[in-house]
Amino acid sequence: MDKKILKLINKKNKSKIVSLTAYSKNIATILDNFCDVILVGDSLGSVLYNYKSTREVSLDIMIEHSKSVRMGVKKSLMVVDMPYNTYKNPKIALKNAKKIMSKTKCDAVKLEGGKKILKIIQTLVKNKIPVMGHLGLLPQTDKTFKYKGRKIFERNKILNDAKLLEDAGAFSIVLECVETSLAKIVTKKISIPTIGIGASNNCDGQILVIDDLIGLNPTDVRFVKKYSNIRNTIAKAVSNYSKDVRKKKFPLKKQSY
Ligand code: KIV
Repeated sequence: MDKKILKLINKKNKSKIVSLTAYSKNIATILDNFCDVILVGDSLGSVLYNYKSTREVSLDIMIEHSKSVRMGVKKSLMVVDMPYNTYKNPKIALKNAKKIMSKTKCDAVKLEGGKKILKIIQTLVKNKIPVMGHLGLLPQTDKTFKYKGRKIFERNKILNDAKLLEDAGAFSIVLECVETSLAKIVTKKISIPTIGIGASNNCDGQILVIDDLIGLNPTDVRFVKKYSNIRNTIAKAVSNYSKDVRKKKFPLKKQSY
């Protein structure tokens, strides 16, 4: 198994896994100093392109953003989301996963789903493509975006799916919007790390969308803590620039040739 992947798995029960999304190089260079995992998430569809859902994200868009992120990632494990429709069956999934791995030089791919995509995961793993799973709220296929784990059948399904993903060879599982006690049970019952988003501190690690964490996204999301208000910082800089240009204070001689 790849050294970086092994290192991540070994963090379980020892130290928390820190993970964030990145969609481009400059941000990735900053995150690389602090993160264990950097995910090029298909959330870029809504965050950057204003798509109604991640279902509109294409393989080519994911590959181009991942190539940019790759330039900024030297230490962290880099994972790329496989977009909707690119892993319909094992053959299509293998072809597309190979394309992602070879074009972006990422370390692993992430796929959404449980039992239904088991054969697909097994095929990728057999072909030496490391797979991160994703359970709980599944933005690519869920009709409503509510947290998971209220109903017994839902709880049993998520726990069962987590075990199946582990058996299929996934090296880690993202748990999105999973009820607190269920996240605890899943994390305890499997030997690969769980990485939560809106899934309490019972997971082995946490992931957030970087735009949410820095406050670039103006909307409030329950499971997000804004660690800065970068919109204010940017607004101040742009305001000062616009004043300087209008008052002919920029550019000065030292900024000219
Ligand atoms: O697409 C994404 O950014 C994700 C994370 C939110 C886990 O899947």
